[in-house]
Amino acid sequence: MDKSCVAPASPISDPESRRFNRLDAVWLLFLAGLAALPPRWELHKQFILLAIGAVQLLESWLISRFPKRGVSYVVLLKILLATLLIDHTGEVGINSSYWPIYFLPVVTAAIYCGPWMTLLWTLLSSAFYCAYLYPAMLEYELTTDALSYLALRIMFFFLAAMIVNRFAEQSRHQTALYRELAERLAETNRRLEQAQAEARRSERLAALGQLSAGLAHEIRNPLGVIKGSAEMLTQKLQHSDELARELAGYISTEVNRLSALVTEFLDFARPLHAELHPTDLTALLDRVLKTVSDRWTGKPVAVERAYANNLPPIPMDESLCEQAFLNLVQNAYEAMEVNGGALRVEVQRATRNEHGGTEVRFSDTGPGVPEELREEIFNPFVTTKKSGVGLGLSIVSKIVDGHHGSIHVDNRPQGGAVFTLFFPFESASEPRPVLATTSD
Ligand SMILES: Nc1ncnc2c1ncn2[C@@H]1O[C@H](COP(=O)(O)OP(=O)(O)O)[C@@H](O)[C@H]1O
Ligand SMILES: [Mg+2]
Repeated sequence: MDKSCVAPASPISDPESRRFNRLDAVWLLFLAGLAALPPRWELHKQFILLAIGAVQLLESWLISRFPKRGVSYVVLLKILLATLLIDHTGEVGINSSYWPIYFLPVVTAAIYCGPWMTLLWTLLSSAFYCAYLYPAMLEYELTTDALSYLALRIMFFFLAAMIVNRFAEQSRHQTALYRELAERLAETNRRLEQAQAEARRSERLAALGQLSAGLAHEIRNPLGVIKGSAEMLTQKLQHSDELARELAGYISTEVNRLSALVTEFLDFARPLHAELHPTDLTALLDRVLKTVSDRWTGKPVAVERAYANNLPPIPMDESLCEQAFLNLVQNAYEAMEVNGGALRVEVQRATRNEHGGTEVRFSDTGPGVPEELREEIFNPFVTTKKSGVGLGLSIVSKIVDGHHGSIHVDNRPQGGAVFTLFFPFESASEPRPVLATTSD
């Protein structure tokens, strides 16, 4: 019965209004006025007025405490109290001049309920009022005049109910509109912040790339010389001192390790020109998933695919994207190395800032990325792995930038990381070279 009478998300139910406010004082004043009017010495009447005051003060609390049935309880209480008041303020209840007290439940229902429920509650209030016809009829003759007078009063109940209900509905509609607007604003704000963070990351990576590419390049030349010299030394010391030979060997292997690292780093720092061609994204993902799973030696990882149907070919640089997806899938597998788990790969259409595109999402059931590391993991050389280099995600970020796309990481509520990539269908301009040029 009370389905359409629920606590509204209007100022009526906000915590502010739950406190005693000035309007409540006016209410009490109004009830005190009624108490002061005749019949003044009717104790029952004063008690009933007191009860009405209490219900009025507790109304907001009751409605927020019982969001589903609170309104019905309040309206019903008011109908009962109004009916009692009528009985104690007239010779015969139906003649009591306190009959407008029924406006109280009627208006309350009109404020909180939809039009049909308001009509029903008004009908019930009228029925309670008309119930006094019975005792009156036992004592008096009922004239047509009296009946039309009664009908008039009841009409006014309905009139008041409909007018108040219309305003209440309008106000509810407005509130819903404002709330929707506020939610949209918050969402836009969140997106803006995310876009700003991504832009800052690109800039940071570009600057870092420029600086370190220069440095790496400078290191590489002397490394070459050291390496050559160490090899010559090893050859020369072939027949001499054992210790000297061993030391020269160390120099050689360590220089090799260093130079491999510098090469890898230069790969990261080298500007990348994405050549975009329409690509079958899901086939590419399947290939990557197979590659990683074929060479995986840790605990088993279940792969779940959720690809949207009828995706158009997506403009992307296939080999660069393959590298990016490889890094992400490899990271997900590594995150679940000890306990195993599941990797879910989703592909679907999406819009970002009114640009249509494709969203690719990798969700794993690993430990997730700690909040404080979310932005840092995209920086080069940030790793939490013993044998990690920390270049994987910075390369991914750079490749996504080269496609005018975006990437961000979240944690799933139930644990595990989610990397979400977005590739626009149309690149607004030429693919961007992302990091500064080096002379390498
Ligand atoms: N799926 C993931 N779950 C949890 N942490 C991750 C995940 N992917 C990346 N990370 C974190 O980001 C860091 C950087 O990753 P990456 O740049 O690929 O470098 P590396 O894999 O060499 O550590 C990782 O060391 C890890 O801490
Ligand atoms: Mg990695």
